[in-house]
Amino acid sequence: MHITINSGQLYGELERLASFTDAPPPAVTRIVFSDTDLAARAYIKGLCTAANLAFREDAIGNLFVRWPGREPGLPPIGTGSHTDAIPHAGWYDGTVGVLGGLEAIRALQRGGFQPRRSIELVMFTSEEPTRFGIGCLGSRLMSGSLPVERARALVDRAGQSLDQVRTAAGFTGTLDDVVLPRGYYEAFLEMHVEQGPVLEQRNIAVGVVTAIAAPASLRIWIDGEGGHAGTVLMPQRCDAFLAAAEISLAVESAAKSTGAIDTVATVGICDVFPGAVNSIPSRVKIEIDVRDIDLTRRDTVLRAIDSACDGVIERRGVRVKKEMLNADPPAQSSRRAVDILTQSCQAFGIPSLQMVSRAYHDSLFMSRITEFAMLFIRCREGISHRPDEYASPEDIATGTKVLAQALAQLSSL
Ligand code: HGY
Ligand code: MN
Ligand code: MN
Repeated sequence: MHITINSGQLYGELERLASFTDAPPPAVTRIVFSDTDLAARAYIKGLCTAANLAFREDAIGNLFVRWPGREPGLPPIGTGSHTDAIPHAGWYDGTVGVLGGLEAIRALQRGGFQPRRSIELVMFTSEEPTRFGIGCLGSRLMSGSLPVERARALVDRAGQSLDQVRTAAGFTGTLDDVVLPRGYYEAFLEMHVEQGPVLEQRNIAVGVVTAIAAPASLRIWIDGEGGHAGTVLMPQRCDAFLAAAEISLAVESAAKSTGAIDTVATVGICDVFPGAVNSIPSRVKIEIDVRDIDLTRRDTVLRAIDSACDGVIERRGVRVKKEMLNADPPAQSSRRAVDILTQSCQAFGIPSLQMVSRAYHDSLFMSRITEFAMLFIRCREGISHRPDEYASPEDIATGTKVLAQALAQLSSL
């Protein structure tokens, strides 16, 4: 079967999708259920209609675009990713897996291929944690990894509940219906930019992901006394920000002291109240992201953060409240899916590299209900979650060709 990727059309669609942004181009900010996100969704659905592909959306806004197979009763092969973007991100995170998946289907159709099993493109809602504080909201619910009542309790920074926001965006079904049974899909493949430098360093265009690291995130509120920055003398202070600073430095040293380069930890959010230059911070909220491909090491860092908080309470007399947002296990790709992606590369004489994913993806949760693997695409200097994120049209087309070949193989089983 001959597979030709229409690279110009695909890159043009990526460029058009990037124009749906709430940040000055080339940056992309596309927060879930924002008007910009809804406009981007409408654009994607328009492309699916133009490709004569029927689609449905579930109660949280996951989009399912199905190409029926000869035996539509068989569990389909899934592929896809996300199109929401954190503030000031780039063009490619997630979108390559959605638009590349669509182009892979179109290329197979153009090549006259007819799948035995249906092939279903999935665009997951809210892969980024930006609005509701927890990543992979759509795939967590889909895989039963997040209890519905926990999802209903989520609120955004403006205090709007998930139900309020999703129903205002037109997603009015019940969240219980989002869950899919184990085995709903025969297998799931996700194509995604690497978001790291390994492929570029090895001068290889595509990677095959064998495992996804274990992510955890937590919120910590620190309460001090506050007061006038001019009149409260240093010995009398109980400064919430300095306590948060000590905890933040402890996060860094905990990650650095596991002895493994795979342990990472970040304090990505720090809200200072009241936030006036002449007022001693009385309350600070920090949000911490901790990851490792090894679960034991990751949890060692979480425990070290706990004891750092105890020490700060002791020394500084602040009050500390912690909220664990998520602490997920890692996921292993299936041998079969890894082999099929590797063989698909070989079929075109494309070298590939087996590697782990330090970023999390919706596949981390799809692994709870089906076997999976991921296909990484080289990105310049490994940059991601920044406006200067870049993947070349050639590499994207190469990955899409490999994805199409793998989808053809899996959907013929
Ligand atoms: O944070 C992550 O790993 C993903 O990009 N949301
Ligand atoms: Mn991301
Ligand atoms: Mn992503």
